[in-house]
Amino acid sequence: MAMAGSWLLALWLPVFIVSAGKMKIVDEPNTYGLNNPFLSQVNRLQPKINPAAISGPAHLHRLAGKCFSMTESVYKYEFCPFHNVTQHEQTFRWNAYSGILGIWQEWEIENNTFVGMWMKEGDSCGTKNRQTKVLLKCGPSHKLIHVSEPHTCIYWLSFETPLVCHPYSLLVYPSLKQELQNQWNQAEQSLYDGLITQQGYRKLLQAIFENAGYLKPTGEKQTRPEIEEQNQSQETTLSRCNEERNKLSAEIQRLKDLLTHHNISFLKPTESENNPTITGQTPRSQKLRGDLGLRDDGV
Ligand SMILES: *[C@@H]1O[C@H](CO)[C@@H](O)[C@H](O)[C@H]1NC(C)=O
Ligand SMILES: *[C@@H]1O[C@H](CO)[C@@H](O)[C@H](O)[C@H]1NC(C)=O
Ligand SMILES: *[C@@H]1O[C@H](CO)[C@@H](O)[C@H](O)[C@H]1NC(C)=O
Ligand SMILES: *[C@@H]1O[C@H](CO)[C@@H](O)[C@H](O)[C@H]1NC(C)=O
Repeated sequence: MAMAGSWLLALWLPVFIVSAGKMKIVDEPNTYGLNNPFLSQVNRLQPKINPAAISGPAHLHRLAGKCFSMTESVYKYEFCPFHNVTQHEQTFRWNAYSGILGIWQEWEIENNTFVGMWMKEGDSCGTKNRQTKVLLKCGPSHKLIHVSEPHTCIYWLSFETPLVCHPYSLLVYPSLKQELQNQWNQAEQSLYDGLITQQGYRKLLQAIFENAGYLKPTGEKQTRPEIEEQNQSQETTLSRCNEERNKLSAEIQRLKDLLTHHNISFLKPTESENNPTITGQTPRSQKLRGDLGLRDDGV
């Protein structure tokens, strides 16, 4: 009887081991049979998409084509700016994992500042694809310093570089072409004049960043969202502009009276206010934000 029992067990065990082994393979489909040291990385890793164009602050473009790596526990992470992030298990296991954690797609922009690079559409991970945000930090040399996985298959890498140490080095505005800067100026003016809402303003900025290639199009309609939002004909917009202008003028007068009342001196832009003459060349200072909200087109 005991004999028969161990016979059964002996038959059963190999089946179990084989199925466990198979599960492992399903877990790591990327390297099945391909972890051969004679095969180059390029042959092993199959990118799903092409990287986006190089964009953003010009002084960072020199990082393209370079790669930086770090090893944490058993994994080596490699970051190739404007191209990809890969992960390589440092082991002699026959099916060691080696994979793509993301391909360069778009910038992460916060407070009108570039803060990181998104590498997306890496190797699949369940129903999604792996993706990685590389955060740029000021440091004495180009160096990957930290990796984490805040959510399953979403990785955060920190990359130190002296190229981002200047406080203005990552500002979006100076990196834009003149035309897009002008669009931003206009958006700013419209917000200041109360012609668009904060939401409309954010949409305009989103469109500008997409136009510059910094962000992937979100698929929304990109044309003049603030007009669509308000569903106004041009005529109503114009009359509303004038109404707003009158309100602002009254407000300015009120504030001036207040200041005079308290004997506080203030800048008197009387000339430009009383004679909103249209000249071909508006002095640069009048175009700056923070003027009195007067339109220089005489409307
Ligand atoms: C990752 O980027 C580097 C540097 O541009 C390139 O040589 C390599 O082929 C890329 N690897 C993959 C899998 O895209
Ligand atoms: C962005 O600006 C807001 C308000 O000034 C601030 O609370 C927030 O911490 C800033 N975020 C970054 C990433 O600088
Ligand atoms: C905009 O308003 C007009 C009437 O003023 C209406 O006929 C039209 O359907 C509206 N369009 C949208 C998109 O709401
Ligand atoms: C108001 O300001 C002027 C000059 O700035 C000064 O001569 C005057 O004494 C001030 N009056 C009061 C009431 O503070």
